[in-house]
Amino acid sequence: MFDKELVKNIRAAFPRAVKDFNGRERAFFDNGTGTLVLESAAQAEAKARIDCSANVGGIFDESKSAEETIETGRQVVADYLNAPSLNTIVSGESATTLFFTVSYALGKEFKGTENVVTTELEHYANVSPWNELVRQGKIKEVRFARMNKEDGTLDLEHMKELIDSNTKVVSVTSASNMTGTKIPLEPVCKIAREAQAYFLVDAVHHVPHEPIDVQAIDCDFLVFSGYKLFGSHGSFMYSNVDYLESLKPYKVKPSKNYGPAKWESGTRNQAMFASIKGVMDHFLWLSEQVQSQYDGEFKEYAENKRALKIAMDAIQQNEKGLSKTVLKGFDDIPGLLNILNVKVYGIIDTNRLNERDPTFAFSVDNTPHEEVVKRLWEEGGIAARAGNFYSYAQEVYNQLNVIRISLVHYNTIEEVRIFLKTLNAICSKL
Ligand SMILES: Cc1ncc(COP(=O)(O)O)c(C=O)c1O
Repeated sequence: MFDKELVKNIRAAFPRAVKDFNGRERAFFDNGTGTLVLESAAQAEAKARIDCSANVGGIFDESKSAEETIETGRQVVADYLNAPSLNTIVSGESATTLFFTVSYALGKEFKGTENVVTTELEHYANVSPWNELVRQGKIKEVRFARMNKEDGTLDLEHMKELIDSNTKVVSVTSASNMTGTKIPLEPVCKIAREAQAYFLVDAVHHVPHEPIDVQAIDCDFLVFSGYKLFGSHGSFMYSNVDYLESLKPYKVKPSKNYGPAKWESGTRNQAMFASIKGVMDHFLWLSEQVQSQYDGEFKEYAENKRALKIAMDAIQQNEKGLSKTVLKGFDDIPGLLNILNVKVYGIIDTNRLNERDPTFAFSVDNTPHEEVVKRLWEEGGIAARAGNFYSYAQEVYNQLNVIRISLVHYNTIEEVRIFLKTLNAICSKL
């Protein structure tokens, strides 16, 4: 776990981690919807707005600075994901847009007889693009590998059963944005490779929680969004160079026919590349703080790549402590789960923290969830949210509105305790 001093310094890097802009102390537990921004990212973004306020390709300084900022941004994302080169990093307006971009490009390769296999754990960003291919007659169907309802894990055996010679795409989330349950990517990759299908990963929910290595995962595409990783809006996609070259995304004729630019429609937002560099600077700083605990580890990665892995591993270890406190808290409050009718979805076993992110969905019977969210806010200063979160999993649970809290590394055990106390008090009064 991070020591007190480090937690304080991490929180100091986020201008709104402790208090909101009205000066109210509160615990921000809505990170799955979008994290708070890092000061380093926001400042880098603002600076880029001015210093790079010209389009690329010119001979003047703002233009050169824009080019440099974009290139540096691609490089730090490549380092973060352990991608082989900055030329494998494509940017987009959002993860949803990138999924549509890839699906349309893949759709051009198909004849209408193919199927796409995804899972019941998905966000709709990894569902609707494939349904759209069915609607257009580019593929025959989308198949959903089952989620085990009792713990929210993926039924791998069912996924295998769904695969046949017409399966051309296997596309999965790395973690459910409802339950926080992770999907083990290694066996899924094996299944995809055996089927000779494209293997895509939606890392949007998982990206602030664990080191990611696209070469180790062996995926063909992996997508995440900057605003879920302490930076600005805008998203990034890794793809291997061969597919970036061979596939045919929709594009205008004069734009480049090679590299990431071939996949990027229109002019880039330079500031988002500056922002992601600001995010990576925070992780590099964090790795320095914890480096002494990582003597021989992650030696296979060079320099910044190693530092980023160390930072994310430290974050993951620390977050396990937060998850444990949440789950033990749910368990320890006498009668919370049964008598007061609070239901927690997903993994609740504290011995299985490796299988989940610190995201918790729960429902309270006979009470509008918006009311619970309002009282968490008013009585405890807890920023939570209720809704469907565009989650396919909620349909599977037949629960189209849940309360979700999602924690990241700037959250604290003290905040979790306030949350549990407030929830307990609310439920006791129901
Ligand atoms: C797992 C997951 N995938 C995709 C998305 C969509 O991301 P974006 O808003 O960048 O399109 C989200 C957003 O909440 C998400 O949680």
